[in-house]
Order: sequence, then structure tokens, then C-alpha cells
Amino acid sequence: MTKPVPRVFSGVQPTGNLHLGNYLGAITRFVDMQKSHACIYCVVDLHAITVWQEPKELAHNTREVTAAFLAAGIDADKHIVFNQSQVPQHAELAWIFNCVARMGWLNRMTQFKEKAGKDSENSSVGLFSYPNLMAADILAYRATHVPVGEDQKQHLELSRDIAQKFNNDFAKSIREAGYEDGFFPLPEPLISGPATRVMSFKDGTKKMSKSDPSDLSRINLTDDADAIARKIRKAKTDPDALPSEPDGLKDRPEAANLVGIYAALEGESVEQTLKTHGGGQFSSFKPALADLAVAKLGPIGEEMNRMMADKAYIDGVLKTGAEKARTIAAPVYEEVKKIVGFIR
Ligand code: TYM
Repeated sequence: MTKPVPRVFSGVQPTGNLHLGNYLGAITRFVDMQKSHACIYCVVDLHAITVWQEPKELAHNTREVTAAFLAAGIDADKHIVFNQSQVPQHAELAWIFNCVARMGWLNRMTQFKEKAGKDSENSSVGLFSYPNLMAADILAYRATHVPVGEDQKQHLELSRDIAQKFNNDFAKSIREAGYEDGFFPLPEPLISGPATRVMSFKDGTKKMSKSDPSDLSRINLTDDADAIARKIRKAKTDPDALPSEPDGLKDRPEAANLVGIYAALEGESVEQTLKTHGGGQFSSFKPALADLAVAKLGPIGEEMNRMMADKAYIDGVLKTGAEKARTIAAPVYEEVKKIVGFIR
């Protein structure tokens, strides 16, 4: 086996309510990466069950994320789209990483603290070791680049630590297996653009999230044009006009959020958006944002709905994707077994 080649991996959980944050922070970036890299995009159903999922809903949501990938422009023929549970090497490698990562590392994960809340004694063991499975997702393909939203930064740092510790712990065995510079690459997070952290429409200091009980806090990818326009109209703002420079958005979280969303949807920088809209009031900016959002998201939602009517097609895409994924992950895991000392 040769050195790691540049390769992109990323994942999205099938936990329902795919929203604008997922789209701008992750999925649009996945689409862009296809031009320059070999890409692997995974619907992470093993991660989803770290909190309870109703089995029928899990299957529906897995197809829905797949439909969103395809509708947004991910090419499943040229790249790889599949669901995690169809490729056993994710869980197998995660076990090895459970034995490489340290309790202290995982104890520092802020997302576990947020998700487990006050009742951490009652959360699943899987929720605690969640980041080890993420590291396994990426490293089962020896992937080098990982496009994600800002909230995944800490998890990706942990993936790098795990790769590094594996390379150190098994350095001798890795060299004996013929690798000069370690076995796993240290995967690089790609977190960039104007919408790496899309905020709630009801509170500009809180992340837009699937689990927010208020549907008005987010735009779902399956929302129709009326719902999109209504949610933008009702989004919280401040009374001031838009500034002409990004500096003027400091301490104005709601304004900064809407401008960032506009820039990301338009494919321009925040500076450019403010050049056009600076000095204007929200009463004119919001309708412009609603028109733009409907123009960009409407066709994706429609295409998702159309695809969701053909389950067999989606399941076929996932099956073919899983076969392709296994041809990469299986030989990597064979090497890991050799390095660790498992008899094969
Ligand atoms: P998940 O399913 O919560 O979110 C999927 C992607 O959407 C991004 N995202 C956001 N970006 C901007 N603003 C927001 N408000 C927002 N909310 C979510 C996330 O950063 C993510 O990129 N643990 C991951 C899934 C995962 C993964 C992986 C990612 C599993 N294995 C390996 C990368 C590599 C998660 O829960 O994402």
C-alpha cells in the first residue's frame, strides 16, 4: 500500500430536519470539493444512534440526507456516497481508536457536554466515544481533507491527535510494514467561507440546530417557498441599517448572521454583500434575502421530494457507494490489523 493520496471525507447525521446551516456549512462545500479532489460523503447512521432514533425514521432520514446530497449536486458516479453502517471497517477501526484515545481527551469535548446535558450518567457510551468513530470514518480512507462547519473543529483536532498517537504508539511496527512517515495522515479540517456557523433565526448567539424546538429558528431544506420567506421575515434583527463594512457587524449577531447567509447563498464575500446592501434597512434586505434563498433552495427541496418518492433508486445509490467505499477501507483495515499484531 502506498502513501495517502489527497482525499476528502465528510459526514452528515441522519437525524432529521436538515437545515440551512448543514447546507451552507457543509453540503455546498462538499459540492465544491468535487472539482479538485476524490471525495467520499457518508450518511453517518452509526453516529445517529448515539441518541435514540425511531427505526423507521432513521431509515427515512438516511434516504433524505442522501437525496439532499444528490439534489445539491454531489455526483455519486464520480465520487462516493453511502451510509456508514454498510461498511464494517468504520466500527472496527473505531474500536481500535477506543483503545488509542484517552479518557481525558474525550472528557474535554464540548459537544458531549452540550448533548449529554446535566444527565450525563444516563447518556449512551456511544455518545461519549462518538469522536473516536469520527476519526475512524476519516482514517479508514486515510483521508487528508475534511470540509465541516465550525462546530466540528474540536472533533477534528481529536482525529488528528488519534492519528498522531497511533503513528507514535505503533511506530516500529509501521516501519516494519514498510511505511516511512507514519501510517495515517493528519487530516486537515476545511472550515471556510461566510457561513461556517449559521445562527438561529430566533437568537443570533445560538447555533442553527436540528434539535431547536422552534421550527422558526431554522430553514429546513424541505421547506417550501412560503415557509422560507415567512421564516426570514420573522427572523430576529436589530433596528439599525446595514453597515457598509464587515467591521460594522461586530456585536450585531443577528445582522451578521443574515448577511453571512446572503453572501454564502450568492457565492460572494461579506464585503461584496455589504457593498450592495450597506446603508439599507432590514425591511428591504429581508425580502432580497428571501428571494435569493427561495431561488437557491427551492429547486433543491423539490428535487429531494422527487427523489424521496423513489426509495429503490436511493437505496441503489447507497449500495453501490458502499461497495466502492469498502474497496478502499478494507485494505486499509487489513494493514491496521497487521500493524497492531492481529493474526489474519
Ligand atoms: P452534523 O450532522 O451535526 O452536521 C453536518 C454538517 O453540518 C455542519 N453544521 C453547520 N454548519 C454551519 N452552521 C450550522 N449551524 C451548522 N450545523 C451543522 C456541521 O459542522 C457538519 O459539517 N459529527 C458530524 C458528522 C460526522 C463527520 C464525520 C463529519 C461523522 N463523521 C467525519 C466529518 C468527518 C456531525 O454530527 O455533523
